[in-house]
Amino acid sequence: MRVSGVLRLLALIFALVTTWIFIRSYVSLDMKTIRLPRWLAVSAAKKIRVVKTKCGLSKPCPNDFFAFKISSGAANVVGPTVCFENLVIMSPVKNNVGRGLNIALVNGTTGMVLTQKYFDMYSGDIKLLEKFLQEIPEGALVLVASYDDPGTKMNDETRKLLSSLGSSYAKQLGFRDSWVFLGAKNLKDKSPFEQFLKNNPGTNKYDGWPELLELEGCVPRKVF
Ligand SMILES: *[C@@H]1O[C@H](CO)[C@@H](O)[C@H](O)[C@H]1NC(C)=O
Repeated sequence: MRVSGVLRLLALIFALVTTWIFIRSYVSLDMKTIRLPRWLAVSAAKKIRVVKTKCGLSKPCPNDFFAFKISSGAANVVGPTVCFENLVIMSPVKNNVGRGLNIALVNGTTGMVLTQKYFDMYSGDIKLLEKFLQEIPEGALVLVASYDDPGTKMNDETRKLLSSLGSSYAKQLGFRDSWVFLGAKNLKDKSPFEQFLKNNPGTNKYDGWPELLELEGCVPRKVF
């Protein structure tokens, strides 16, 4: 009893002393290291500051601008994607895209989606696209993504209508070209938001198709 009591006391003293030594060395070490891992603090702060941008844009848009990202289809395999203000309007996952031209209309003031539709440009009725383009309301933004073949059924009237939305390349759009575009009804100038790649067997990325195109940007909200 007595021996074990002494042993316990000794053990307690030993524990207290080692704890004290440990705490001392730990604290002094801690004092020194507290200024050391600054990169840690910085990276933590950075992580907090990383804000996910709308549509995954490389830079966020200023106030009163809409964020958008349009990807054309890849060959005839992967469908296109149209994102506007972080809302994926058209995509293979949504199962509302098709070969030809994929077009979404958005209210240029509110950013609300008006409609979305795809037009078969290989074997479809071009009159459907003509009618659709003629009926685009004033103040609407028009987002277009090609998939597989946007050109075979293209006619002069449709080229004219697409050009009036601000397109520079609608005039030459042809079989299996890649095309992404954002325009607006009665745009006075050419839209800065457009990319075009001609189907060219010499430079095509895929067997029979040029590379897919991605277009992202910030389009100013139209304030009346
Ligand atoms: C856009 O929304 C505004 C406000 O609701 C409305 O007045 C205007 O007619 C709409 N324009 C289009 C093209 O839908």
